[in-house]
Amino acid sequence: MSDSNTESRGSWNTKFGFILAAAGSAVGLGNIWGFPTQVADNGGAAFILIYLLCCLIVGFPLMIAEFTIGRNTQKNPVGAFKKLSNNNIYAALIGFWGVLCGLMILSFYLVISGWTLSFALEEIVSYLGFNELANTLADLGNGYKNAIFTVLFGLLTIVIITGGVSKGIERATKTLMPILLGILLILIIYIFTLEGSGEGLRMYVTPDFSTITPDLLLSALGQAFFSLSLGMGALITYGSYLKKNQNVVESAAYVTVADVGIAFVAGLLVIPAMFVAQASGIQIFNPETGALFSSVTLVFDVLPGLFGNIGGFLGTLVGFTFFILLGLAALTSSISLLEVPVSYVIDEHNIKRKKAAWIVGGIVSVIAVIVSFNLNLIDVFVFIFNEIGLPLGGLMICIFLAYFWKTENAVLEMKNGFENIEETSFPKIWTIFVKFICPVLIFIVLFTTLYNYIF
Ligand code: TRP
Repeated sequence: MSDSNTESRGSWNTKFGFILAAAGSAVGLGNIWGFPTQVADNGGAAFILIYLLCCLIVGFPLMIAEFTIGRNTQKNPVGAFKKLSNNNIYAALIGFWGVLCGLMILSFYLVISGWTLSFALEEIVSYLGFNELANTLADLGNGYKNAIFTVLFGLLTIVIITGGVSKGIERATKTLMPILLGILLILIIYIFTLEGSGEGLRMYVTPDFSTITPDLLLSALGQAFFSLSLGMGALITYGSYLKKNQNVVESAAYVTVADVGIAFVAGLLVIPAMFVAQASGIQIFNPETGALFSSVTLVFDVLPGLFGNIGGFLGTLVGFTFFILLGLAALTSSISLLEVPVSYVIDEHNIKRKKAAWIVGGIVSVIAVIVSFNLNLIDVFVFIFNEIGLPLGGLMICIFLAYFWKTENAVLEMKNGFENIEETSFPKIWTIFVKFICPVLIFIVLFTTLYNYIF
C-alpha cells in the first residue's frame, strides 16, 4: 500500500501507542465488571483457569490473525475481506457482519457506560445531601436518566474519534490508561484493609473443579472474545493503522497479557469488595441456592451500598473514584467499537472522518436511547451479537484466513517487523491453531450454545 493511503487514513505514532490503544480497546467493562461477575457466578478460580486457556488457545492466535489482516490490507473489515478475496461478496459479508456487531454491541455498551457516569455523579450528589436527585441518578430503570447519560457517553466517544487515529484515539488512551491503572491499584490496597476481604480473596484463588460444566466453557469462551475485542474486526481496523516495522506477534502478546492481567487484578478488587459488602450486611448470594442475586447489574447494585457503609467523605471519594475508573475503561473500549463502522464509512463511501463519526455515532446513539428505555434488550443483544456474533465472526475470520487467503501469505506479512520469523517454530504452531484448533473449538462451542438454546 502506498504511503499516501497511510497518510490519508492516519496511522499510529509509536509502537507503544498502538499497543496501548489495542490494550485500551481490550480493557473495558468486560474486565472490571464482566470478568469478576462471571468468576463469582461460576465458582471462583476454576473459571479463571478455563478463561486463561481460552485466551491462550483461541484468543491469542486470532488476535494475531486480525492484526495481520488489518496491516496487510490497510483497510476496514469490509474493505479488507474484499481486497483479499478479489471482491468476493461472501467474503465481504464477514466484514459487514463485524460492522453490524460493532454497532449493536456499542448500543448497549453505551447504556452501561452511561451508568458509570450517573453513579459517579450520584456519589457526590448524595454526599451533598440532595437525596432525591441521588435516588434518580442511581435508578437503573429510569429511562430518561439512562438516555441522557448514554448520549453523553456517546458524545465523548464521537469527539475522540473525530480527532483521528494518532491525535484522537492514541492520545486519549495514552492519557487514560495509566490513570486507570493507578486508580485500580489504590482501590485494591484500600479494600484489603476492610473486614471480609480475606474471605473473598480465598474464593478468588481457590479452584473448585466441580463447577466446570459445558455451560462454564461457553461463558469462558464468550468472555474471552468480548474481553479481547475479537471477532468483529475491531483489531483488523486497529491493525490497519500499523506501520510495517511493528512486530504484530509480539504486540498481540502484550495486548493479551495486559487484558488478562487487568481482568485478574480487577477481580482482586471486585470480589473482595463483594465479600466486604456481605460482611457489612448487604446480600449478594442467595442463601438457599448459593447463586449470585444479580449479575448484569451486580457492581451497580452492590458496590454503592458498600461505599455508603464506608460513609462520609472517604466513602464518597472511594465510590466516585471507582465509577470514574469504570468509565475510563469503558471509554477506551467504546472508541474501538465506534471506529469499526466509522472506518468502513470513511474507506468505502469516501466520507470525511468528522462527518462519518457524527453520522455513525448519531445512528448508534438513537439505538442506544431505545435500549435505555428497554433494558431487557441488553440481554437480547448480548446473546445475538456478543455470545453468538463474536465467535461466529471469529470462526469466519479463521476459515477465511486459513483456507482462502492462506496462512503462508499471513506469515509473509508477519515477517515485516519480525524478520527471522521463519527461523522460529512460530509459523508452524500458529498455522495449526488457525487451521484446526481454533475453528474446531469455536464451532463446538457455537453449536452447543445454539443447540441448548433451541432444545
Ligand atoms: N473488550 C471490551 C471490554 O472488555 C469491549 C470491546 C471493545 C469489544 N471493542 C470490542 C468487544 C470489539 C468485542 C469486540 O469491555
